[in-house]
Amino acid sequence: NHIIVNDSIVPETEAHVSYNDRGYHFGDGIYEVIRIYEGSYFALDAHLDRLYASAEKLDMRIPYQKETLAARLNDYKNTEKIENGSVYVQFTRGAGARNHLYTREETPVLTGFALPDKPMQASQEKGVSVYVTPDIRWLRCDIKTINLLGNVLAKRKASDHDCAEAVLYRDEAVTEGSSSNLFLVNNETLYTHPANNLILNGITRQEIISIAKNMGIDVVEEPFPKEVLAHAEEAFITSTSIEITPVHTFKGDVVATLSVGPVTRKLQQALAEHIH
Ligand code: PDD
Repeated sequence: NHIIVNDSIVPETEAHVSYNDRGYHFGDGIYEVIRIYEGSYFALDAHLDRLYASAEKLDMRIPYQKETLAARLNDYKNTEKIENGSVYVQFTRGAGARNHLYTREETPVLTGFALPDKPMQASQEKGVSVYVTPDIRWLRCDIKTINLLGNVLAKRKASDHDCAEAVLYRDEAVTEGSSSNLFLVNNETLYTHPANNLILNGITRQEIISIAKNMGIDVVEEPFPKEVLAHAEEAFITSTSIEITPVHTFKGDVVATLSVGPVTRKLQQALAEHIH
């Protein structure tokens, strides 16, 4: 197995980064997870655009042109002969003596590696339970930062309650999952939190909104309180890794069961056609 480290693709055992990297000290870095289907990256441009946008929001300058990074990712895919899987790409701000204050002189450090596909067929067919719990994250969830403690703690809590994912709410708004976006279906209409600072605007989320609109399904991007979850006809979570995964049970601060419905099925099918 090889790892991307800056300008090189090296065997895993030869991949080294500094203990002084700000990624370790401060979680000072950004990332993307990009899917490969049948030998091609899915939505590579959108992922790279979001990566560069995350960098800009954190006052970080990625030391490569987008095209150069895309070429490196393609080299990596070919070196590792990845037909189906994902690639994790990360930039930290770089190394420096531990100090909260960054200098803007740091050189961002690129690392990247392959993630194998997880089995998803059962959860995509039958759905999953999700655990509804407060969103304790910071106020810039639009940035895809490696600083993920709020997400990590929520995911652990969900798993401790036999749930596959945590669904987060902040005050009167259900925001998103710990590593996914959430959609509800009521009266043939899709509901999801608007893409602002309180959620990560998922690439899968954006694909689904566009697919739904093309199918004549109305999409309402407005905040809704957690009580609405209990009355949803259908619900599903989305991400690069889980695509469209239906929700059959809400636990935690909302308790409800629902069935996997026709709109979810139609969107799953349309997304699959779009991918393949
Ligand atoms: N997570 N919201 C959060 C908080 C996420 O971490 C993710 C993705 C998404 C969905 O984004 P996308 O559709 O672009 O994958 C929404 C990735 C997969 C991860 O951290 O592994």
